[in-house]
Amino acid sequence: MNHFSFLVIFLIIFHISQAPALACNEEVVIIRFKYKVHIINGFTSNENPLIAHCKSKDNDIGEHVLWMNNEFKFEFKKNIFGTTRFWCDMRHGSVQKTIDVFRVGHESYESVYCHYTGNCFWSTREDGFYFSNDNESWLKRYEWY
Ligand SMILES: *[C@@H]1O[C@H](CO)[C@@H](O)[C@H](O)[C@H]1NC(C)=O
Repeated sequence: MNHFSFLVIFLIIFHISQAPALACNEEVVIIRFKYKVHIINGFTSNENPLIAHCKSKDNDIGEHVLWMNNEFKFEFKKNIFGTTRFWCDMRHGSVQKTIDVFRVGHESYESVYCHYTGNCFWSTREDGFYFSNDNESWLKRYEWY
């Protein structure tokens, strides 16, 4: 068995073993390479903008200034080595936090759920960071502190 077929089998087993709580397509896409990450300002006041600066090891998406309800998105292709990771530095007024928005690996709940729809939505709110893969059902994933 060559490395590639081993990887394919691993990915199939890995994805089947994750029980989805968020949106899960009827037709499960076994292998997906293209993903979109959406960053949303979900704050309920426009006193301060959300300043989001997302990057990976090889890509700098740049700084985005988002006012209430605004979103920006970026697309990327997952590498076949299973090392793809994007993180964003988020600032709002006096609070700041860096969170992983997409990370392949055992611990990464997000990349597993993003897999079903090809989308990772992150809504940044007063009480923390909420994740969704369909822009409808949200789960709180991180606090600001
Ligand atoms: C996500 O949902 C919001 C609120 O319903 C909507 O305004 C926005 O366009 C949606 N974004 C995408 C990418 O579907």
